[in-house]
Order: sequence, then C-alpha cells, then structure tokens
Amino acid sequence: MEGEYFTYKGVIFPVLHFSHEGLSYVENEFQVRDDDVFNITYPKSGTNWMLEILSLIRCEGDPGWVRSVLNWKRAPWVDSLPGLEAARKYPPPRLLTSHLPVQLFPKSWHCSKAKIIYTMRCPKDVLVSHYYFLQLLRSVKLPRTMDSLLEDFLSGKVAYGSWFDHIIGWMELKGKENFFSITYEELQQDPWGSVRRICRFLGKELSEQQVAAVVENASFQSMKENKMSNFSQMPDNFMDHQKGGLMRKGICSDWRNHLSEAQSQRFDTIYRDRMDGLGTDRPDPK
Ligand code: PPS
Repeated sequence: MEGEYFTYKGVIFPVLHFSHEGLSYVENEFQVRDDDVFNITYPKSGTNWMLEILSLIRCEGDPGWVRSVLNWKRAPWVDSLPGLEAARKYPPPRLLTSHLPVQLFPKSWHCSKAKIIYTMRCPKDVLVSHYYFLQLLRSVKLPRTMDSLLEDFLSGKVAYGSWFDHIIGWMELKGKENFFSITYEELQQDPWGSVRRICRFLGKELSEQQVAAVVENASFQSMKENKMSNFSQMPDNFMDHQKGGLMRKGICSDWRNHLSEAQSQRFDTIYRDRMDGLGTDRPDPK
C-alpha cells in the first residue's frame, strides 16, 4: 500500500489525483451552490449508473448528452484534483459526484439547498466489484487475495475508508429535505419507479415516455456500449483496458459466485456488529 495511498484525517486516498491540500480545500473552502445536485456513493456502489440516470433526467431522457460528453465531465468527482478543477469551471446548475465520507464533504453544503442523492449497495457486492476493479488499475500493486482485501475492507483500510462508517455517517442526514437515499438493488428491482422517485426529489416532471427513455439509456447494456460512460476513454496509464472495464457484470448478489462460506460468515459477523443500530435504512448483505 505504501506509495499508492496516503491518509487524510484517518481516511485512505490514492496518491494519484488526490492530495492533502485538495481534500482540505474541498472540505473547508469549496462553495456549494443551492442549485448543485450531488451524486454520492461509496465506491463501486452504482456511482456511474446514478450519474447516467441524473444526466438523462436533466435531458428529459434524450441520450444526446450522455453519448457525446464523458461521464466524469458531466458530473466531475470533486474529491479528485482534476474533478475539483472541472467543478470550479462548471457552469451552473452543476451535477457533481463524490465518494467522500460525510465528515470530509464540503462544509458549505450544510447551509445550502443543494440536493444530495446517496446510493448504497449490498456491501459484499461492493467488495467483489472493488476486487475486480483493482485488477485493472495500473497504479495498484498486485496480487491481492480476496482474503486480504476482505480484511482491509472490513477494517476500513481501503480507499475512502470504511464502508460501515460511510453508510452510518451519510444516513444520519436521512429526513433532511435535500437528502435522498436509494439502493442499487432498488434500481435493479424497479428502475421505472426509482427514476420517478428521483425525479420527484429533483422537482423534475418527466412523462412516462421520458422516464422509459432514462431507464433504457441508463441500462447496463446501453452504458457498456457507450464509450462516454464505460471508462474505455480512461488513460491507458490508469487502467489496463485489456483486462476488463467498469461495466463488469452489473447484477445483484454476484458475491455468491466469489466469496467462500467462511468469507461470507466473517463478513456477516462484522456487519451485525457494526450495523445493528441502523434499523432498515441500510443495504442488506444478502
Ligand atoms: S466507481 O469506480 O466507484 O465509480 O464504480 P461504480 O460506478 O460505483 O460501480 C461500478 C459497478 O456498478 C455497475 N454498474 C451497473 N449495474 C447495473 N446497471 C448499470 N447501468 C450499471 N452501471 C454500472 C458496474 O457493472 C459495477 O458493478 P460490478 O458488480 O463490478 O459489475
């Protein structure tokens, strides 16, 4: 891990594209606007899917924008240095993305009307998706076994810190008028209903035909085929495109194909311990 990551306020970040100064600026000085919309997730939870849905809602289902502009330009990741730069130049209303845990998120949000959409995913699927994504990254030394990644994941020794802390921290905002949460699993089970709920939260009225166009153009297959959305345009020195891509499988419960019974049980023990108090507002590890 040494050389690949650094720690900022107890949370691990990759060295590539991140810095103490940048993160401190985002937390303390970045000015959130009332008309900003934030797409927030823990990594590998459906960030790019939600980014596509929000882009398409903005265009009333018309795929022109998502087919012509790269996703990280449509909704820059404010946490990273290039994303921060893009966010500062973005003409309002801005669509922004972040994986930051709540305690490192721009403080100025708390006295703004900017809207947050927080997407969560079954943590075992997050782990598996993360495992396969790491294989593609040129900046990360391999091999890393599932066992060692599992332990790092459970103890929060991964980029963006603990999944448990992320969920618990962000879900404390539940009930605030400008905070909306949804799960990857809900998006899978009822994409039309989910898009309608997101539209209602955003105050955007779309016809049934437009909702259907959002769902269709943000489907796994459409995104996999769209070079503006599938990370195929990420620089070669960042990702090894021969080994795979962002759009790996896009299904629920794939962890069952990758975790052993012992690994799953180990996960459940820690999950019960950490998530007990959170009631039903949390993605299930099933
Ligand atoms: S990242 O790198 O943190 O921004 O990744 P993120 O976008 O959060 O998560 C990547 C996983 O989301 C899946 N994905 C989708 N699933 C279903 N439908 C659509 N449209 C979709 N778009 C992205 C993607 O396949 C990754 O999951 P896995 O399980 O690895 O396939």
